Amino acid sequence: MSRPVSIFPDQFRLNGRTALITGSARGLGWEIAQGLAQAGARVLLHGRSAERLAPRLATMSRAGLDAGALTFEMADRPAMRQAVMGAGPIDILVHNVGERDRRPFAEIEPEDFARLIDVDLVAAHALVKLVAPGMIERRWGRLILVTSIVGDLATPGASSYTAAKGGLSALARALAAELGATGVTSNALSPGFFATETNAQLIASPAGERQRLRCPAKRWAAPHEIAGAALFLASPAASYVNGHTLTVDGGVSATYQA
Ligand SMILES: NC(=O)c1ccc[n+]([C@@H]2O[C@H](COP(=O)([O-])OP(=O)(O)OC[C@H]3O[C@@H](n4cnc5c(N)ncnc54)[C@H](OP(=O)(O)O)[C@@H]3O)[C@@H](O)[C@H]2O)c1
Repeated sequence: MSRPVSIFPDQFRLNGRTALITGSARGLGWEIAQGLAQAGARVLLHGRSAERLAPRLATMSRAGLDAGALTFEMADRPAMRQAVMGAGPIDILVHNVGERDRRPFAEIEPEDFARLIDVDLVAAHALVKLVAPGMIERRWGRLILVTSIVGDLATPGASSYTAAKGGLSALARALAAELGATGVTSNALSPGFFATETNAQLIASPAGERQRLRCPAKRWAAPHEIAGAALFLASPAASYVNGHTLTVDGGVSATYQA
C-alpha cells in the first residue's frame, strides 16, 4: 500500500525553491513575495529602482525571510537577460508587472498599443524563455502569469490592457500544453478590484464606489488577499493544476447586475 501524502503543511512548503516575482516593490507583487517567502522560498524581488527595493529587502531581512533583488525595465531585454541569467536557478516565476493605459481606444496610437503589449505580454514570453529551460532540466517549475478580470470582462477605456491580459491567460494555457509533461505547470492568476496604492485615486472616486458595489463582497480586496492563491499555484499542492486561470475577485466575474 502506498504511503499517505501529508498534504498540510508539507504540500504548501516552498523550502529550497527560488521565486522571482516581477513588479514586487509594492502592490500585489510585494504581497505575493511575502507569502512565498513565508512558505520558505528564497524570493527575488524586482522593480526598476534599487532605492525603492531597498526598504523591502530590509523588511524581509527583519522578518528573517530570504530575499534578493533584481532591477531591470521590462522593455529592456538585454538588461532582463543579464539580471535573470545572473540570478541562479529560478523555480517559480510570477510575472506580475502590468502597466495600464486607461484612455479610450481612439486616443491610443498604434505605437502606444504595441509598447503596452510588449511590456505586459511579450515580456512574459521573454521571461519564460529565460527561466523555463532550467525548470525543465530540474523537472520542476511554476509559471504564474498575473492577468486581470478585464482580460475576460472588458470595460471601456482599457483596450491595450485588456488585449494584453487576455493574451496572458492564453499564453498560460499554451505553455501548459507544451510543458505539461516536463514537471513545469503554467497558470494565470486573475485579480479583481484590489486596494493597492496604484488604485488609491480610483477607489476614492464615484467610479471606484460603483466598483465596490458591483462586487458581491461589497468591498475592495485588501492587497494581502492575493497571496494565498499565488502560494497555492506555486506550491506542490497544485502539481496537477495546469493551464488554469485562478480568479480572485470576490465574485465579480461570477455575477452580473441587472
Ligand atoms: N491592483 C489591482 O486591483 C489589480 C487588478 C487586476 C489586475 N492587477 C494586476 O496585478 C499586477 C500588479 O498590480 P499592482 O496594482 O499591484 O502593481 P503596480 O503598482 O501597477 O506595479 C508595481 C510594480 O511594477 C513595477 N513595474 C511597473 N512597470 C514596470 C516596468 N515597465 N518594468 C519593470 N517594472 C515595472 C514597479 O516597479 P517600480 O518600483 O520600478 O515602479 C512596481 O514594483 C499588474 O499586472 C496588474 O495589471 C491588479
